[in-house]
This record gives sequence, structure tokens and C-alpha cells, in this order.
Amino acid sequence: MRHPVVMGNWKLNGSKEMVSNLLKGLDAELKGVEGVDVAVAPPAMYLDLAEQLIGKGESKIILGAQNVDVNASGAFTGDISPEMLKDFGASHIIIGHSERREYHSESDEFVAKKFAFLKEHGLTPVLCIGESEAQNEAGETVAVCARQIDAVINTQGVEALDGAIIAYEPIWAIGTGKAATADDAQRIHAAIRAHIAEKSEEVAKKVVIQYGGSVKPENAEAYFAQPDIDGALVGGAALNAESFAAIAKAAAKAKK
Ligand code: PGA
Repeated sequence: MRHPVVMGNWKLNGSKEMVSNLLKGLDAELKGVEGVDVAVAPPAMYLDLAEQLIGKGESKIILGAQNVDVNASGAFTGDISPEMLKDFGASHIIIGHSERREYHSESDEFVAKKFAFLKEHGLTPVLCIGESEAQNEAGETVAVCARQIDAVINTQGVEALDGAIIAYEPIWAIGTGKAATADDAQRIHAAIRAHIAEKSEEVAKKVVIQYGGSVKPENAEAYFAQPDIDGALVGGAALNAESFAAIAKAAAKAKK
């Protein structure tokens, strides 16, 4: 049985006050909640504060980050290395988010390089994949997801996916309130798993595949009732302790 993972991607949102209130709120909401891994990815700037607050709390929130560089150190202005993330206790690192692919022109190959670098440093990649609206309408969804995953498999072998997390996020559903239906998401998740199974059934069975894109407390239960949806990557709803915790609790309940 796969253990569900619900992760909050805070994107470019936060202040010391907000980080502090949100983490304290989550700590209170998640007390006694078992059976789900709950992670948050604040802006890198706030990892120090988040690490301190999580250390004081009881909820065992996992610390994550939203990006990483492909270099360990040196003249790379503005970038952050895996060791720096580790230094602040971050373990689950989002890579290949569609916003980075789009606004920072990150290619499948570049994202795969980040994936390898994270693994090399003992960190957990949260590999985002997903199709645009036009690709969806053209019936290319599964092919796009397969291509994005193959960039990792073809360079590092299917075993590299062992212990990693995949987040299927249809781009048209991100931040739009226009979520994929649970049935549609399940169909794509099953296809992604089947694609990985062509290389290794063992890895396919174990790999956590989250759904992301307008996940809210109101629709979370329907996703987690699906056999191939193992959690969620949550944007907007992760900025509120009560709604994010409600999503995490729904995953814990559904995957018992
Ligand atoms: P959303 O974002 O929940 O606000 O749609 C999800 C994401 O981008 O990870």
C-alpha cells in the first residue's frame, strides 16, 4: 500500500508573520492525524523560520522547497543548491513545476538533471508533469506525461523513480478553479503508472503519484477515493491552515 503524501506549494507567497501563523495553525490542525505525510514548500527565504517552527511543533510536518539548482556551489547568482536545502531541513523538493517550465524555460532535460542531482544528495524529488489545455484538447495528455517522465527514465533508469514523487498537474487546472474530474485524473494516473510499469512493475507499484490543480477541501475526497491517486500537490488551498489540513485529513481517511 502506498503512503499518501499531501504537499503545499506556497509559491511566491509569504512573510514572516504568515509563515509563522500558517505553521502554527497547521500544527494545531494536524495533531493526532496519522496515515498521511504532510509537507510544505515555503519560499526558500523562509526555510530557516519554518525549520525552527516545525522543530517546536508536534505535527511532524515535512519541510520542502520549490526549486533547486543543478550546481553544488560557485558563480551561479540567485541559485540554491541541494546541500543548502538540506542545511535547513528541507527534504521534498518540487521540480519541473509548469510555472518554472513556462516562465523560466526549463526543458524536460534540465528538469531531469535536477532530478538526478536531488537523488545524488539524498533528497526526494517531487517531479511535476502535466499537459497544457491545447495538448489536452488534442488528446496528447498521456504522451506529454510519458515524455516528461522518460526524460528521467532514459537518463537515470526507471529505478531512479523509486522513492520519488510524481505530481500530475494539468496546467489548465492550476490556480483556475477548473479541476480535472476525479475520474479523468484517475484515468491519467493509471496511464502514467502503466507507462512506468512497462519498465518496472515493482517501481510503478510503489511510486507515489499526486494530483495537483485546484484541489480544495470540497473535491479532495473524490480524488483520494481513486486507486491511483496517492495524495495531492496543493497551491491556493495550502495557504490556509484549515483548508490544507482538511485536504490532508481526507487523504489519511481515504487511504486507511
Ligand atoms: P492550485 O496550484 O492548487 O492553486 O491549483 C497547484 C500547484 O500549482 O501546485
